[in-house]
Amino acid sequence: APRACVIGWPVEHSRSPAIHGYWLAHYGIDGAYVKEAVAPEDFPAFLSSLSKHGYVGANVTLPHKEAALRAVQEADTAARAIGAVNTVWLDERGALRGSNTDAYGFMTNLDSSAPDWREGCDVAMVLGAGGAARAILHGLIEAGIPRILLTNRTVAKAETLARDFGDPVEVVPWEDKDSALSACRLLVNTTSLGMAGQPPLDIMVTALPANAVVTDIVYVPLETPLLAEARARGLTTVDGLGMLLHQAVPGFERWFGVRPEVTPDLRAHVVATL
Ligand code: ATR
Repeated sequence: APRACVIGWPVEHSRSPAIHGYWLAHYGIDGAYVKEAVAPEDFPAFLSSLSKHGYVGANVTLPHKEAALRAVQEADTAARAIGAVNTVWLDERGALRGSNTDAYGFMTNLDSSAPDWREGCDVAMVLGAGGAARAILHGLIEAGIPRILLTNRTVAKAETLARDFGDPVEVVPWEDKDSALSACRLLVNTTSLGMAGQPPLDIMVTALPANAVVTDIVYVPLETPLLAEARARGLTTVDGLGMLLHQAVPGFERWFGVRPEVTPDLRAHVVATL
């Protein structure tokens, strides 16, 4: 029976086993998906001997996503653009291949939760400049969004991303983000602000246009203070759990041969683990 795993350090918090475990049971597949705690110094060796450990593939999570890009024999376009790999599999020749499905997960979730978000989306704003922001910038640029305002507490990190991703990305100083909001059809929070135990994000939601879509990649809590305020203002909101569910789809299909569906029942199953 095919086995896959999620590799992290620590890995205890990972919700991936809940997602893949649900699908394995739902589709009646004789397979397994487990957690592997692997320290950074052991990661390259672990990945290059994945099949010896009994796996057909894996998800890679913090802090290994950049190291995984270096460790795979072939990385797809998304992984190279984002600079990180979150999904690996062994191909028919036994070569280790890598992809990054975070941009796919983000975009697919946005399309299914707010289907008209692209209409008139000339400007989007992305808050934060970490790994998640890289994936989202890649997704938005691929989708053809012409102008993406990027803002981050540490401006140098935003400038590095703007250099890497080029033209559509424009850096806005963190202090000036409110004044740029009136033009934004889409607002994406990728910072950890609003996460349980963190301070809330301080942003002037009232400055957004009435048709704005507000999305957060944070999913604990499911409704962050940002999303609650946006919803109270009548704006469309999209929570971060959907991105997590959708990013898991391509890996499951590669490892187990069935393209799984993201359903309300899967969502409820994972929400119960939060
Ligand atoms: P990820 O890989 O999930 O994107 P990360 O690389 O740790 O995570 O990035 C966290 C993001 O949250 C960063 O953009 C960080 O801003 P800095 O680059 O200035 O560190 C942002 N962040 C975290 N705490 C913050 C705070 N108190 N105020 C503003 N931004 C914060």
